[in-house]
Amino acid sequence: MLLLANIGQLVTLRGAQAARRGPALGELGIVNRAAVLCSGGKVISAGTLKNVKRHARGPVQEIDCGGRVVLPGFVDSHTHPVFSGPRLIDFEERIRGSSYEEIARRGGGIRSSLEGVRRAPLASLARLVEERLVAMSRYGTTTVEAKSGYGLDTTGEIKSLRAIARAASAFSGTVVPTFLGAHIVPPEFASKRGKYVRMLCEDLIPRVSRARLAAFVDVFCDRGAFTLSETRTIFQAAQRHGLGTRAHLGQLSQARVPELMEFGPASLDHMDHVRPADLPLLAGSQTVVTLLPGANYFLGLNGYAPARSFIDSGLAIALATDFNPGTSPTLSMPMIMSLACTHMGMSPAEAITAATINGAAALGLAGVKGSIEPGKHADLAIFNASDYREIAYWFGANHCWAVVTRGKLRLTAGSGSF
Ligand code: NIG
Ligand code: FE
Repeated sequence: MLLLANIGQLVTLRGAQAARRGPALGELGIVNRAAVLCSGGKVISAGTLKNVKRHARGPVQEIDCGGRVVLPGFVDSHTHPVFSGPRLIDFEERIRGSSYEEIARRGGGIRSSLEGVRRAPLASLARLVEERLVAMSRYGTTTVEAKSGYGLDTTGEIKSLRAIARAASAFSGTVVPTFLGAHIVPPEFASKRGKYVRMLCEDLIPRVSRARLAAFVDVFCDRGAFTLSETRTIFQAAQRHGLGTRAHLGQLSQARVPELMEFGPASLDHMDHVRPADLPLLAGSQTVVTLLPGANYFLGLNGYAPARSFIDSGLAIALATDFNPGTSPTLSMPMIMSLACTHMGMSPAEAITAATINGAAALGLAGVKGSIEPGKHADLAIFNASDYREIAYWFGANHCWAVVTRGKLRLTAGSGSF
């Protein structure tokens, strides 16, 4: 058994088996001067030391948390970790004034990441993904959704998903794999898009499903990527083969929400441009809207997704890094929470909920992750802070002291004092 004792502030989010909405988004279930007992990879008890200790049986490894803040490990529900290198030419071009779409039209963007993935051996891609997962965990992330999407041919996509699987088995946290063969139409299919979509639906999706290489199918449904009707065709194939659906939507053009809701997508992501008239439809559904302010920040945009009106309308919103080489090269959930607070008007408490239980809901894992209460997976993050609000406040430096995954303490490289 593992006992975390002397916790200054314990953020439990207890009572959370589903995404939180509206005013409940800011309810953290805080216990001061607390403890958490874990066994068999699960939380046995969380609360005051006296109450928690009563559940201890047999040998107990006790960790003194030194008055620090403990919260559920972050669930980063949108990442693209399978790429070979940074996109520095795009970075400089954008600084000189070109937009993401202009750069993509000139052959930069997603296309410029294809070759690196197609050429890389599986083992080196797997090693890169594993290093990136470990780096994420140093910032307090314990569950990661990981997408393919830079291979965009049969070999490259299957290799990307195998790299995710291999990295996941070496990683102490949890990985949820997503097939993003529909990221863009690769150049060799530029004049035969229909053929590429058919290949996705009739060959790749069935193969991915048979080999259990992904839980979800994602489509980049936006200007310059896939059309609404192509997205619907791909979602139909995903459903035929028992895979969940999620989409990149409303990043560059108006989101087409009603036309996708019949598929019951687990999550619609970005959503910078949404018609107010579509909000009630989202509010009445189980679909999570995942906000990715790292992309807005890195692309130097002035506008961010309207998080406040989403919250006021009762949508289930989550926050994720969108870690990728083109629009959001950050592994840090605290950085994303900071952006959510300063640029989207979310409170620090709302940002924590969106980064934990609501991220879990976006992956269909709200029953097992995202809060610290008996029966939930023992995935926790411990921060060098005495108040949870500091996590979003001290931006740009890592103050995560340790994470617990599967009930075991893993020390991280966060700074010790400040
Ligand atoms: O989520 N929008 C599409 N996909 C990524 C960008 C990928 C890239 O540029 O490599 C995103 O922002
Ligand atoms: Fe993305």
